Amino acid sequence: MQRYQSLEFQQQRHTVNSPEQSSAMRWSSPHCPLLLFFLFFSFLTLFVGRAAVSGFRICAYNVPQFSPKKATNLRMVHTLTRVVSRCDICVLQNVQDPSGKAIKTLLSNLNRYDESFYQSLSSRSLGNSTDDMQQYVYLYRIHSVAVTGHYQYESKQFFVRDPFVVKFQSNRTIIGDFILVPLHSDPSQAVAEIDKLYNVFEEVSTKWNNTNVMFLGDFHAACGYVSRNDRKKIRLYTDAGFSWLIRDRVDTTVNSKISCAYDRIVVYGQPFLKAIKPFSAQAFNFGQDFKLPKAMVLEVSDHLPVEVTLKSSGTLFQAQPLLILLSLSAAVHFFLSAP
Ligand SMILES: *[C@@H]1O[C@H](CO)[C@@H](O)[C@H](O)[C@H]1NC(C)=O
Ligand SMILES: *[C@@H]1O[C@H](CO)[C@@H](O)[C@H](O)[C@H]1NC(C)=O
Ligand SMILES: *[C@@H]1O[C@H](CO)[C@@H](O)[C@H](O)[C@H]1NC(C)=O
Repeated sequence: MQRYQSLEFQQQRHTVNSPEQSSAMRWSSPHCPLLLFFLFFSFLTLFVGRAAVSGFRICAYNVPQFSPKKATNLRMVHTLTRVVSRCDICVLQNVQDPSGKAIKTLLSNLNRYDESFYQSLSSRSLGNSTDDMQQYVYLYRIHSVAVTGHYQYESKQFFVRDPFVVKFQSNRTIIGDFILVPLHSDPSQAVAEIDKLYNVFEEVSTKWNNTNVMFLGDFHAACGYVSRNDRKKIRLYTDAGFSWLIRDRVDTTVNSKISCAYDRIVVYGQPFLKAIKPFSAQAFNFGQDFKLPKAMVLEVSDHLPVEVTLKSSGTLFQAQPLLILLSLSAAVHFFLSAP
């Protein structure tokens, strides 16, 4: 599994299992190998259990001009790899990689770094001027989620970069089937573009008969681009069915001189809201977490990734039935053979 999880696992192992270890001393020595076996499997079960209940993370990250040229900076690619490897789905925006070379480099790093396997799904290059064409790129773990549909929204007049909408299915989440609508808005018309996401919502929820829709990305939904007053003109604000998970006070920028919630995650409907782990939505300040100097953070982006965790479907048994069966039988074997 991911490295951060194995770290958590190691911490758990100390706290959870020390009583068992001390009782091991008291048990008779002939059963020592079996006991070790049992402990080993309880570790494994614990580990798998943690992985299953640790939730399903969805991220969005504006990585300015992520191109084959930018991807030659291997230190930058490594930092990006560490960020993406926390996510079951990560939507990159501002990718300028029509040949697919940069994403290929990122994927091969990701699949070397992380035990689970990632795939990508890219939109075509979108934009209003030939020198600034951008793609939306989804990176997702094939063992936890499947793409069940995708749709390029088309409207010459609404967005500079029309959302590339993808429908997912994951047995690891409570919600099951859901739709992601990304947006990297044009700053000069952010208010109108965010409002028009409502039209996208109507179209795709009808198309797929599914209102579990999440909007995510750099909306420029703060500071100079969207004022408090502007919210009256945005249906995603005025319609109470939409929940803004990344709230107005969150700072999604790296620059310490400003604090703006440019990047957002919004979901529609009570079912989706209830399927989300409370308080899990945040801008992930990885510079702090990974202890990186600001220059290395800025090498990737002047934005922070935003993320949210979906509750897992509590599939401890569904997750690894064989492993659990093995550890149970080891436990039974141990207790039956104990004097
Ligand atoms: C989810 O479960 C269904 C039914 O058990 C199965 O057909 C499907 O392949 C599973 N999906 C994934 C992504 O594992
Ligand atoms: C695209 O550019 C043209 C010309 O500059 C402009 O008229 C049009 O409104 C722009 N479209 C969008 C969605 O910004
Ligand atoms: C749409 O989904 C609902 C359940 O979410 C179902 O009851 C209904 O039959 C579906 N409609 C169509 C046209 O598939």
